Amino acid sequence: MAKQKHNENFNIIATTLSGLEEVLAAELRDLDMEYIKVGNRAVSCSGNLRQLYEANLWCRTAIRILKPIKNFKARDEKDLYEQVQKINWADIFDLEQTFAIDAVVSHSTFEHSLFVAQLTKDAIVDQFRKKTGERPSVDRIRPDFRINLHMHENMVTLSLDSSGDSLHRRGYRLQTNVAPLNEVLAAGIVALSGWDKKSTFIDPMCGSGTFLIEAAMMAQNMAPGLFRRDPFGFENWKDYNEQLFEMVWNTAEAKERKTPQAEIIGYDIDPDYIEAARTNIANAGLQDVIKIEEANFFETNAPAEQGVLVMNPPYNERIQSDDINLLYKNIGDTLKNNYQGFDAFVFTGNLEAAKSIGLRTSRRTPLYNGPIDCRLLKYELYRGSRRSGGEE
Ligand SMILES: C[S@@+](CC[C@H](N)C(=O)[O-])C[C@H]1O[C@@H](n2cnc3c(N)ncnc32)[C@H](O)[C@@H]1O
Repeated sequence: MAKQKHNENFNIIATTLSGLEEVLAAELRDLDMEYIKVGNRAVSCSGNLRQLYEANLWCRTAIRILKPIKNFKARDEKDLYEQVQKINWADIFDLEQTFAIDAVVSHSTFEHSLFVAQLTKDAIVDQFRKKTGERPSVDRIRPDFRINLHMHENMVTLSLDSSGDSLHRRGYRLQTNVAPLNEVLAAGIVALSGWDKKSTFIDPMCGSGTFLIEAAMMAQNMAPGLFRRDPFGFENWKDYNEQLFEMVWNTAEAKERKTPQAEIIGYDIDPDYIEAARTNIANAGLQDVIKIEEANFFETNAPAEQGVLVMNPPYNERIQSDDINLLYKNIGDTLKNNYQGFDAFVFTGNLEAAKSIGLRTSRRTPLYNGPIDCRLLKYELYRGSRRSGGEE
């Protein structure tokens, strides 16, 4: 692979979660990427090496930033094997580096992504062995080099993964005893809420604090990649430009706003969650920006005339249906009576229980939380006579 000059443009594909493609496209636009095209759980664009580094550091809704190196059609196993061998892999990574293949296969005559990954790995390993008598090792957990294979209807895109470990693992969250929201999903939801990063932001069922931290990072203009402990994938590439990355890193650090930009408040009824949130907030260095308090949402009042409220109430099936319906009814009543003037967003996977909120939604955005089909429901809570009172 020829060394990439840092001002030369190349194709970049940023992957994301379903429903966040437009948010990610806007983030890439902010980085001055060109030829931005929105796809399915991915956005493609064109940019240079500096922008590739910036995308890894700054994109809040990207899972991975990929650099495609080859597109081809694979009718059968032989085709796939031969096409992969057409790349000179020793130009891309060294024998001593460990590697892994992430394969995603859809609507193809190849049915199993694991099989496709295995075949690709064999083609690479065989090439090294033939040339040197030795083979590089595979490390599925922490490889030095990740290769991404995307196959759709037998059309293959092979890419180098510049992120390495998934970008949702920001590094501020050390608590593992709770099941928190994916950081990319949380950041996407805050962006979809349209919050202006100045008015009051509240998550009254904050759990481990993911919405609060993602919102605060946006308000303070903190790059989410700055918390990362493990190296990015591109740091192991042959064209890694350390000086350039240092410049991108230092510029990002300098852009952080130090004084709190907005009132950001979290409540939770469970003291263990509050403790977990406190630890995470401190890890992110946001203890002066976010206020959290142990409180029952149903006993709280809006802390300001207007603002944005985002919440992810419990929705798992373990809760008895009577209780869950009552919980959602109480959410609706509290919003209607105590949070007039706010735009409220309820993110839930329990669409049945959500009906008990009893307020008219002004927007319903489909999203997934892992495999769970979810909705982000928007309620505009008008004051006085303009109050929305209709059923869903
Ligand atoms: C699904 S979790 C939220 C997870 C959170 N988004 C995160 O990323 O960690 C729901 C939270 O609602 C809290 N909760 C339930 N009922 C509550 C109430 N009446 N007032 C405040 N918090 C409540 C639970 O303790 C739990 O932490």
